[in-house]
Amino acid sequence: MAVASTSLASQLSAQFSGLRRSSPKLDHSQPQTLFQHVHSHIRLSSSRKGCRGVVSMAGSGKFFVGGNWKCNGTKDTISKLVSDLNSAKLEADVDVVVAPPFVYIDQVKNTLTDRIEISAQNSWVGKGGAFTGEISVEQLKDIGCKWVILGHSERRHVIGEVDQFIGKKAAYALTEGLGVIACIGEKLEEREAGKTFDVCFQQLKAFADAVPSWENVVIAYEPVWAIGTGKVASPAQAQEVHAAVRDWLKKNISAEVASKTRIIYGGSVNGGNSAELAKQEDIDGFLVGGASLKGPEFATIINSVTSKKVAA
Ligand code: PGA
Repeated sequence: MAVASTSLASQLSAQFSGLRRSSPKLDHSQPQTLFQHVHSHIRLSSSRKGCRGVVSMAGSGKFFVGGNWKCNGTKDTISKLVSDLNSAKLEADVDVVVAPPFVYIDQVKNTLTDRIEISAQNSWVGKGGAFTGEISVEQLKDIGCKWVILGHSERRHVIGEVDQFIGKKAAYALTEGLGVIACIGEKLEEREAGKTFDVCFQQLKAFADAVPSWENVVIAYEPVWAIGTGKVASPAQAQEVHAAVRDWLKKNISAEVASKTRIIYGGSVNGGNSAELAKQEDIDGFLVGGASLKGPEFATIINSVTSKKVAA
């Protein structure tokens, strides 16, 4: 699905004209945002609201929380985590997904409640075959996965995956029926250089150019400087990028896709900060790393959907 070329931060004034704005209260203890002098805290007009009796929600999709277990766990620790998740009381109005390491997916699938779906953390770019060390989409489906995380910053910046390759992986997974959690996000130096929008939009465009449809895509905005660092983006910092991403979808794909596509936040989300983040209109859920390894805390994050349900 080809789209028009990426908008640059310098074009934001024109791009966001006509959108309702409110005054941001940015947290200056966080890495500086380039949007302070442009238009922070942007929101699309209200046509998408009210779909679920939830007023603090700009998009129309169901709240979505994913737990990315990364390269953590053993049979024993995972068995404990699964048992904690099975006994947790989870709000009904949330899609919940966990992504165990490949080798434990079968164990988790066989022991975890069906209430929680399984995601892989990566997938091969095409049909399986002579690709040593890779796992194919067909194998993931065979073992019960419904989702795959693609474009995670650790795959981009540690393993070296590039936009086009990630886009191809997303296209293949979607075509074969897996949902894709499509990750985007800027590095600290990119934020400090005022390139946050450019980086995010370029990564988004690579997905957009490749995917056959947005039906099964969840976008995860994960600033690299916030992943695993304990430095969570402030609610306002996250909201401004989420709003910009939604606007990019509206301008470059369609108003319907902008409304329906969940845009979730990731980067040092925990049980103490998730409620405040969830109150932001364009935050439709979370992708959680470290805190998803603790069952009760992950449940708290899932249940932060309640902070969206402010008096209707
Ligand atoms: P973190 O990781 O919650 O440990 O920061 C988030 C992620 O990488 O998805």
